Amino acid sequence: MQQIVRNVRIIGTGSYVPETVYTNEYIETFAPTNAAWVEENLGIKERRIASEDQPTSDLAAKAGLKAIESAGLKPEDIDLIIVATSTPDRLAPSTAAIVQDKIQAYNSVAFDLAAVCSGFLFSISTAAQFIATGVYNNALVIGADTFSKIIDWSRRDCVFFGDGAGAAVLTHTESDKGFLAFRLYTDGRGKWNFTIPGGGSEYPLSHENVDAGHRYFQMVGKAVYETGIKVLPKAINQVLADTGTSIDQVDYLIPHQPSIRILKDTAKIIGLPFEKVMTNMDRYANTSGGTIPILLDEANKAGKLKPGSLILFAAVGSGWTYGASLIRWS
Ligand SMILES: CC(C)(COP(=O)(O)OP(=O)(O)OC[C@H]1O[C@@H](n2cnc3c(N)ncnc32)[C@H](O)[C@@H]1OP(=O)(O)O)[C@@H](O)C(=O)NCCC(=O)NCCS
Repeated sequence: MQQIVRNVRIIGTGSYVPETVYTNEYIETFAPTNAAWVEENLGIKERRIASEDQPTSDLAAKAGLKAIESAGLKPEDIDLIIVATSTPDRLAPSTAAIVQDKIQAYNSVAFDLAAVCSGFLFSISTAAQFIATGVYNNALVIGADTFSKIIDWSRRDCVFFGDGAGAAVLTHTESDKGFLAFRLYTDGRGKWNFTIPGGGSEYPLSHENVDAGHRYFQMVGKAVYETGIKVLPKAINQVLADTGTSIDQVDYLIPHQPSIRILKDTAKIIGLPFEKVMTNMDRYANTSGGTIPILLDEANKAGKLKPGSLILFAAVGSGWTYGASLIRWS
């Protein structure tokens, strides 16, 4: 097989969040939490909540169609779809297959990728390899989650998550712009610090497992915090070193949105002014796989990403999974 290596760029973005808003003050009326504490410590004011008849694929398809339209393409032009989600519609088939059908992109191969909050980063990295090697030309990468479906609303950690989806279309380019580096990491020793135990083969759906609360996410907040502020700087510094880039040259960091403290501490450690760190957790909380592509779409639509801008992506999630990527916007 002939060796091909092509540069890969993002040519379209899209996002979708459900209409229903849960403010901190509303949640305070039924859960043992404190609205002011949540805003102060987590940076979250409100989040969007999908309706009962709105599975993850619904959000994903809406975001995906917007990204395809913004790329100036049609669904039939897409030859690869990757959906990053940890709240799939069902265990089978993949949410990506359902999305492919919903948007009628039947010329594509479609699969899910499970890396929880790092899912979108892992997915754009994967799609970029296929495009770089000439296997596929136009990839639709979607990060979508509906954590509201796996939240125990009687616990105080119900405040962390919201629902949403974002998407990007990647293609090849002759220019020297586009993705410059990817670094992905997994450390399975962290596997119980954030987990959704129920519904799989360990705790299959049963009355006992549901009664035991296994359908809800479980999080060791302190471990997430301590790991986040270690591994995000490690991954970011590695992609900067890989590309000979100094932090001063970076225009924006578009990170996953775990908590404002993790992002502020990370910015301090890597030496990036916090004004260059994009956030939207105040409006959407942590939408897991959706965080980075929703932010990317907002920044793109707001005209903040100029040709030549150097943009860092970084994420940390359950697994542990973490990583970073650097792109020169075009
Ligand atoms: C969760 C986190 C805020 C907890 O902070 P901590 O200092 O480790 O705190 P503790 O759990 O010991 O709680 C300390 C106090 O904060 C307050 N508190 C903690 N969680 C709260 C919540 N959800 N709502 C209101 N108050 C809360 C309480 O006053 C608590 O005191 P108490 O335990 O005596 O009631 C912190 O660990 C964190 O930000 N972790 C990162 C989590 C994350 O980013 N998750 C994203 C998912 S990947």
